[in-house]
Amino acid sequence: MAESEGGEHSLKRSLGPFQLVALGIGAIIGAGLFALTPIAAHDLAGPAVVFSFIIAGLGCAFAGMCYSEFATMIPVAGSAYTYAYATMGELLAWIIGWDLVLEYAVGAATVSVSWSKYLIRLFAHYGVTLPASLTASPFEGGTVNLAAIFIVCVVSWVLIIGISESAKANAVIVVLKVTIVALVIGLGYAYVNRANYVPFIPPNTGEFGHFGWSGIVRAAGVIFFAYIGFDAVSTAAQEARKPQRDMPIGIIGSLVVCTILYVLFARVLTGIVNYKDMTPTAVYDAINATKYAWLSTGVIIGILAGYTSVILVMLLGQSRVFFSMSRDGLLPKLFSDVHPKFKTPWKSNLLLMIFVSLFSGFLPISKLGEMTSIGTLLAFVIVCGGVMIMRKTNPNLPRPYRTPLVPLVPILGILVCLSMMVALDIATWIRLVVWLVIGLAIYFGYSRQRSTLRLSGEGK
Ligand code: ALA
Repeated sequence: MAESEGGEHSLKRSLGPFQLVALGIGAIIGAGLFALTPIAAHDLAGPAVVFSFIIAGLGCAFAGMCYSEFATMIPVAGSAYTYAYATMGELLAWIIGWDLVLEYAVGAATVSVSWSKYLIRLFAHYGVTLPASLTASPFEGGTVNLAAIFIVCVVSWVLIIGISESAKANAVIVVLKVTIVALVIGLGYAYVNRANYVPFIPPNTGEFGHFGWSGIVRAAGVIFFAYIGFDAVSTAAQEARKPQRDMPIGIIGSLVVCTILYVLFARVLTGIVNYKDMTPTAVYDAINATKYAWLSTGVIIGILAGYTSVILVMLLGQSRVFFSMSRDGLLPKLFSDVHPKFKTPWKSNLLLMIFVSLFSGFLPISKLGEMTSIGTLLAFVIVCGGVMIMRKTNPNLPRPYRTPLVPLVPILGILVCLSMMVALDIATWIRLVVWLVIGLAIYFGYSRQRSTLRLSGEGK
């Protein structure tokens, strides 16, 4: 994204459908695929994790069509928060904005933890053992994950001094990531041991969500993380040559490409490495199991670079959401204070760095990933609902792209996303509710009184 923070200056309309699909893929492929697939196969679904990818892809496709309607109706550099603010009122916008912290900030933390696992692998490859207590959270037998904190700090620093990701660097990383996925699929296929597919759906252990069909749906909720980021395409709405045509192509196109790659990838990975033996860095093990083991170092470096770009996009997205919320008076002004020299919301980036580091350093990847998934799923449910509400309340607003078959598609989106949410464990739900309660307390205790809508006398 060749855009400065906040998207304040006018942007050149230079992106066509191909670049938009590439942008989406760049933001999408990351820890969800490389780290959560093995975890979901190992803990929840076995080889049937491929079904989980299809379910999650379906939910995203329905939600993606709804996103596209908003993205073309309000073609500003934005996010679900901006859409909600413009169309659904301040309270709902606040809820989405607060909820998006789970998607962007906690999502960045999740990827940083996986980044640290691959870093450990890379060092181990060269015979260097990083101290376990400083590279794992207390939940994984360590003290603090300094490696994960390190990458969060580096990326935050890059954002503060204002080097946002250039379209060229993004293109290189997209090619790298797709190549790695294609390598695993293409080279790994010959090494699939069909015995690893038996049983394809391991029987339920007696506990809901642990193998069997409930395990498949829970795994869908977990690996749903792998699809997060397609909404990044909508943030480039102002840079698209023909947003009404190219936005839906960018969003749906990147989703379709990723779904196909993910299903094939999961199929081959579970065929090479038995689900019972999977580790969070199973991709490395899979490559090592082939005669192309010499590629494994390159694969790790590619994954580390790919993750770094995902963390960058997420932290950038988070600071943009906070920037908009602060401009609307819902968050303190410091979140939209721009550095005199760097022209970035550096205070916001600094605070985020501390907040995200705490998560990265002290929590395990599976819990962080589930929090990100449930938060994003909730945002999707609200966006799907929003399309139906807007069709009723503002039927005549120009809609360059209309979600097909309303209300069927939004309702299916809500149903698929809700079922993935329901399948997630109770602890994840409790964390979501606590997070939302804190958010509402801040809204009613602080934001409502200071909102620009209220102060300008238009408050609802
Ligand atoms: N989809 C992104 C990832 O998997 C967030 O890393």
